[in-house]
Amino acid sequence: MKDIKMNEKKKKSIAQFVDLFDARDEIIKHSSKNLPTYQYPANLLAQELHPDSFSVQLVKIVNETNDIKSFWFTRESKENFPPFLPGSYITLQVEIDGRIYKRAYSISSSSNSLKEYRITVKKAGIVSRYLFSSAKEGNIFLMEGPFGDFHYQSLRDRKEVIFLVGGSFLAGCYPMILDCLENHKIQSLSLIYGTKTVNDILWKKELDDLQKKYKNFHVTYVLSEEKRDDYAFGFISEELILKESYQGKSFFISGPQKMYEHLNPILKSLDVPNELVHHEIFATKPEDLASVKHNLTVHYRDETYTIPCYENETLFTSMEKNRVLLKVCCTVGVCGFCKSKLLSGEVKTDMSGLRHGDITYHFIHPCVTYPLSDIVLEIF
Ligand code: FES
Repeated sequence: MKDIKMNEKKKKSIAQFVDLFDARDEIIKHSSKNLPTYQYPANLLAQELHPDSFSVQLVKIVNETNDIKSFWFTRESKENFPPFLPGSYITLQVEIDGRIYKRAYSISSSSNSLKEYRITVKKAGIVSRYLFSSAKEGNIFLMEGPFGDFHYQSLRDRKEVIFLVGGSFLAGCYPMILDCLENHKIQSLSLIYGTKTVNDILWKKELDDLQKKYKNFHVTYVLSEEKRDDYAFGFISEELILKESYQGKSFFISGPQKMYEHLNPILKSLDVPNELVHHEIFATKPEDLASVKHNLTVHYRDETYTIPCYENETLFTSMEKNRVLLKVCCTVGVCGFCKSKLLSGEVKTDMSGLRHGDITYHFIHPCVTYPLSDIVLEIF
């Protein structure tokens, strides 16, 4: 073994450092067992502005299109909502048939008004169907957030911006567009907005009014199932992006999975640098999974649950259906709230939101993980 030579000064400082352990142990031994009650003013203010969760009252429901509704909430306490960066999302907790479901929705109202939050929801999935069919004005829900990192950042992003947006995904982008136009010195902002028909366009009047008010704002509407004058036909294309003199501009993309699969290769072929492209994160569901049943064993502290799980459902969905409460937030594999340890079993998972250390030590995000065998999991 190589002899490590140290001068006296180094030896002395290491000895002093080692002595610190004894000194620390001595202090701990004589310290009070009670936790300090003092709270720093900054922490108190942060807790006041951003409580962990809060009760909200549904105060207004607006039909936006055939299959999209907006839901307006106030806080039950009548306080302001937490301030948020445009593009953020909240989670809404909903009880359906005795089971608790939590889902993430983008805030679609302006960040300038904190008296109300609006979410804009497409009819799909158990919670949105419940909101469409059963939610009534006056109902109380539990909300958490805001969360997220899909924002325009003036220090990072360019002053010329292009949004590529599909259907109901305008919900999260709309406050960002307002913010860019009202609060940042944006030189140009183009929105290329794809829907099936003209009736599926969200906030058409508002968008057209914004175009009249801000000369640096331009919208191209793209219809995939209807041909009309003054509207592009088909999908958001390379040709439409080229028309926007795209070079050197920041891109914000939000849409369904297929839209990303369609647009990412186009942006790559146009040599748009990755650092100029921001995606609203979405969950990728593998298409090749069948409804094969396995067992999922979940360890939580000193409790153990064994429940069925299926190859075409996330582990989170199986736990949710069987009332095993897992802490979740984004439900798309990004925030890390649901991080759990895979003790045994084979899975198909989206690892994009995991760090190298997580992968090495078998941590996964159950919200984007599908079982391929019996699974044993430890949740926290
Ligand atoms: S809930 Fe965010 S990573 Fe799973």
